[in-house]
Amino acid sequence: MVKITFQSVSAQKPEKDQDADKITIPQAHGRLVPPMKPRKPFPTGLCCLAISLVIFTLGLVLPSIYIYRYYFMSQQIPEDSLFHCRVIYEDSVYAPLRGRQELEENVSIYLEENYEQISIPVPHFGGSDPADIVHDFQRGLTAYYDIALDKCYITELNTTAVMPPRSLWELLVNVKRGTYLPQTYIVQEEMVVTGRLRNMRQLGPFIHRLCFGKETYRLRRRNQRQRIERRETKKCHRIRHFENTFVVETIICDRF
Ligand SMILES: *[C@@H]1O[C@H](CO)[C@@H](O)[C@H](O)[C@H]1NC(C)=O
Ligand SMILES: *[C@@H]1O[C@H](CO)[C@@H](O)[C@H](O)[C@H]1NC(C)=O
Repeated sequence: MVKITFQSVSAQKPEKDQDADKITIPQAHGRLVPPMKPRKPFPTGLCCLAISLVIFTLGLVLPSIYIYRYYFMSQQIPEDSLFHCRVIYEDSVYAPLRGRQELEENVSIYLEENYEQISIPVPHFGGSDPADIVHDFQRGLTAYYDIALDKCYITELNTTAVMPPRSLWELLVNVKRGTYLPQTYIVQEEMVVTGRLRNMRQLGPFIHRLCFGKETYRLRRRNQRQRIERRETKKCHRIRHFENTFVVETIICDRF
């Protein structure tokens, strides 16, 4: 019992002493223990945190890029690539009756999709029809939608006469500050209807959209000799437009 009390006293005393010392000892333990405890979860916890941060960041960044690309950019590009153009040209076709003529049109350039859309308003002087034109460089096709006739005409894209989207864009950006393109001249091209087109899907999405629900015909370029022989006997419509440094009058004629 004595031993016990002694032990208890001695045990209590050192305990009290230890308690007093425990201020430092638990601190020492506390210093030891906290590094010990996180050491095990540290790598997994940090990894989980890092992975979840990466996923979270990607989850934020990727949709932002997507939204930027498809909503902001797609709205910005057409604005940047929409041009209201005017040109003065010497009208050699009806000269000297008319002399200098003015032509205006809206040009939309879609660089990524590789096509151009041109809108020609009702002209100040008659003779030319208002029209919407699509030059699809991916398909190699041109579509004229004659608004006056409500008919669509498809022909092969003439890459000599029509500037590719990037070049036309550069040309129009450079003259955007001034109101007019440099004064120019007019060339004629004559087309003849060769038949009705019914399968619109083969024409690609842009021409399909332009011509959907309209009577659509295929065109062939008519050579000079035929032009002289048959000019008097056929019904023709004219569309004046430009997608280059010169104006083109496309004459579209029925077969008979
Ligand atoms: C051309 O664009 C202007 C302004 O964006 C618009 O007011 C006009 O109606 C357009 N003309 C044609 C023929 O699309
Ligand atoms: C393309 O257009 C140019 C200029 O108008 C013309 O000289 C040429 O004959 C045309 N080529 C074709 C294949 O229609």
